[in-house]
Amino acid sequence: MSRRHRITIVGAGMTGASAAQWCAARELGDVVLFDVVEGLPQGKALDLAEAAPLLAADARVTGTGSWADTAGSDVVVVTAGVPRKPGMSRRELLGTNHRIVADVTKAAAAASPDAVFIILTNPVDVMCSVALRATGLPPARVFGQAGVLDTTRFRAFVASELDVSVEDVHALVLGGHGDTMVPLVRLAAVGGVPLSALLPPEAIARAVERTRGAGAEIVGLLKNASAYCAPGAALCEMVAAVLHDKGRLLPAPAYLQGEYGLSGLYTGVPIVLDGGGVRRVVEVPLQPEERAAFLRSAEEVRSALAELPQG
Ligand code: APR
Repeated sequence: MSRRHRITIVGAGMTGASAAQWCAARELGDVVLFDVVEGLPQGKALDLAEAAPLLAADARVTGTGSWADTAGSDVVVVTAGVPRKPGMSRRELLGTNHRIVADVTKAAAAASPDAVFIILTNPVDVMCSVALRATGLPPARVFGQAGVLDTTRFRAFVASELDVSVEDVHALVLGGHGDTMVPLVRLAAVGGVPLSALLPPEAIARAVERTRGAGAEIVGLLKNASAYCAPGAALCEMVAAVLHDKGRLLPAPAYLQGEYGLSGLYTGVPIVLDGGGVRRVVEVPLQPEERAAFLRSAEEVRSALAELPQG
């Protein structure tokens, strides 16, 4: 019996397989890919397992359609669902994806009651609430991936604009994962130097707009798929923060219980992420216009939440 960590990735599609690849390459633990399509998780897992010697990565990657094979996982990542088509908003996926997410998170939690759940399926802020209800787990152990992806996109655009290392660009995005996301440009910095001292306002505005539309830009190019490499890497970053008990301060959809004056919903906020999941939500003092944009974004999440069937 392996004593390595166990990571279950539900949905062995584009994003699930990408997350599996990054996690295995970083030797975060053994990876179990789960999917309803017979042969898909097994085939992708086998392909990844065969790459392991080239990466010198000791991580067992297996594929399954049986929840029993996922039992005892430390982390469960949920990517199961349907992706966007060109012209679709993330919210339009709600009808189909909420059933899928409720079913898979309930079954996964029954098999791995101690796991930390990271939800990626869109609309992610709403799907986190679906997972919270379906699993009955404490909110600290159910949260989403959105802000890590949004900030890596912003960082990539800024680094390319400035022609500096991507490593040194730091940024924070608040709010729902959608067109209303709130990049906190005021706090963005490159190696400790405020972004506003390095780039003119028009260039910063361009990077912000591109970040907002980054998912749609890729759907528009791929046509039959949405982005999966950066989303997979973002998931891996969060899995690493949990399994290495890092205490990373990252933006993510987290359950609010009075923070920012909001309760009973998930939206993107800075969290401290460690082995137990969300250790705490960090409240950033906001300027009036930032606060207004954040509340507008949260309102959008709340209205999508109201579309969910109760019970
Ligand atoms: N149980 C397990 N897997 C499921 C289920 C289910 N009930 N329903 C669907 N799936 C699987 C599909 O078989 C597919 O392999 O989920 C996988 C989704 O993969 P893709 O279609 O390739 O979609 P992907 O691009 O990975 O996006 C998945 O992430 O970005 C979001 O909005 C996107 O919700 C979508 C999700």
